[in-house]
Amino acid sequence: MTVDVAIIGLGYVGLPLAQAATRAGMSVIGFDVKPALVASLNAGRSHIDDLSDAAVAEMIGHGFRATADESDIASAKTTVICVPTPLSQDGGPDLGAVTAATAAVGRQLQPGMLVVLESTTYPGTTDEVVRPLLEKSGLVAGTDFHLAFSPERIDPGNEKFGAHNTPKVVGGHTPACTARAAEFYGRFIETVVTTKGTREAETAKLLENTYRHINIALVNEMARFCHQLGIDLWDAIRAASSKPFGFQAFYPGPGVGGHCIPIDPNYLSHNVRTKLGYPFRFVELAEEINATMPAYVTHRAQNILNEGGLPMNGSRVLLLGVTYKPNIADQRESPAVPLAREFVSLGAKVMFHDPYVTEWTALGENALRADDLEAAVAEADLVVLVQNHSTYSVDHLASLSKRFFDTRGVVTHPGAYRL
Ligand SMILES: NC(=O)c1ccc[n+]([C@@H]2O[C@H](COP(=O)([O-])OP(=O)(O)OC[C@H]3O[C@@H](n4cnc5c(N)ncnc54)[C@H](O)[C@@H]3O)[C@@H](O)[C@H]2O)c1
Repeated sequence: MTVDVAIIGLGYVGLPLAQAATRAGMSVIGFDVKPALVASLNAGRSHIDDLSDAAVAEMIGHGFRATADESDIASAKTTVICVPTPLSQDGGPDLGAVTAATAAVGRQLQPGMLVVLESTTYPGTTDEVVRPLLEKSGLVAGTDFHLAFSPERIDPGNEKFGAHNTPKVVGGHTPACTARAAEFYGRFIETVVTTKGTREAETAKLLENTYRHINIALVNEMARFCHQLGIDLWDAIRAASSKPFGFQAFYPGPGVGGHCIPIDPNYLSHNVRTKLGYPFRFVELAEEINATMPAYVTHRAQNILNEGGLPMNGSRVLLLGVTYKPNIADQRESPAVPLAREFVSLGAKVMFHDPYVTEWTALGENALRADDLEAAVAEADLVVLVQNHSTYSVDHLASLSKRFFDTRGVVTHPGAYRL
């Protein structure tokens, strides 16, 4: 039986995409290499924050089916690859999942199929890595099948912008490939923006995330000298934000987290260095500043304890919020992990609290969970607000604490310290 679309990789990107396509009335299957995940999705259980079990059950009710059987891909008119693109040990791109998934699609490729890569990757991947693997089938891209790149822009936890109303960038191997991919996404996404080719679409995604990475580094660097100069940077940002054009606010914090910002710019700088032999200096500088924020926060915490005559060694430090974003359970690349490790290495007795995290495997026994929030806040020698979940009544918590260090610029309690 033919299906409209096969989604390859049912994670944070693939599953919401499958939902959007299913809701638009398309027949959708999802292929994943994890049989346990396939079974639990087919049983109506979700494994990602943005989709409830009920939403998965609704998808299944509308004909969605997950599969671990590669041969099912052959039945799809369109195949969308949404597999992870992490960093390798040496900090370069790890395209292992992309090549494995593409090889699977290549084995099942049918004349007339549209294949789209959505995984974030360096410019040239669709043409130089994906196309040759697919063409091993004997079919030729642009002639026998269509090939395109379309970056995913999902923002976990965003209640306003989901798959259907976030404009979708699409770049094909040929103009006909672009048109075919634009028609596909246009069936369930409100706005489709086409580019000249696959490389422009790949670069657009990396530009978006590199822009964020660099601007966060800018305010993180400013936070350090503003503190020394006695300037409240958050107040300055608030004032600058009143300009109705030409300025977008970014805020300092204890480091960058999540799946995109700490990883994607590396794909671009690695690509520039390997292909052209010179560094992408903005990215490397931003990398250095953002990566040293946890150490800077620990240094400031040490000074705060010191003011009260306490050494870091042996002091009780409570970290509030360990996810990478407020109000979600997602812990990927959270700066709370390097931050907690810094505290532990200096001998602090670290505890954490997070309404979304019951077990913090990253730190294990080195950071036990405080169950009674207010009691733990009152008991700690230092409380550090790492992530400002909206359930935290921060000024009240600061008033209960002995010392409160706010790394998010949200506390107004007079005794609290700010980053
Ligand atoms: N999560 C985000 O917020 C986000 C946002 C924008 C872009 N992206 C990009 O989208 C891509 C996917 O990210 P994600 O967050 O969905 O990853 P994820 O880890 O949540 O999910 C990926 C899924 O792919 C499956 N998989 C791995 N290898 C496979 C293979 N060979 N065949 C089939 N399935 C395979 C895994 O089992 C997993 O279920 C990455 O390139 C990422 O950088 C992610």
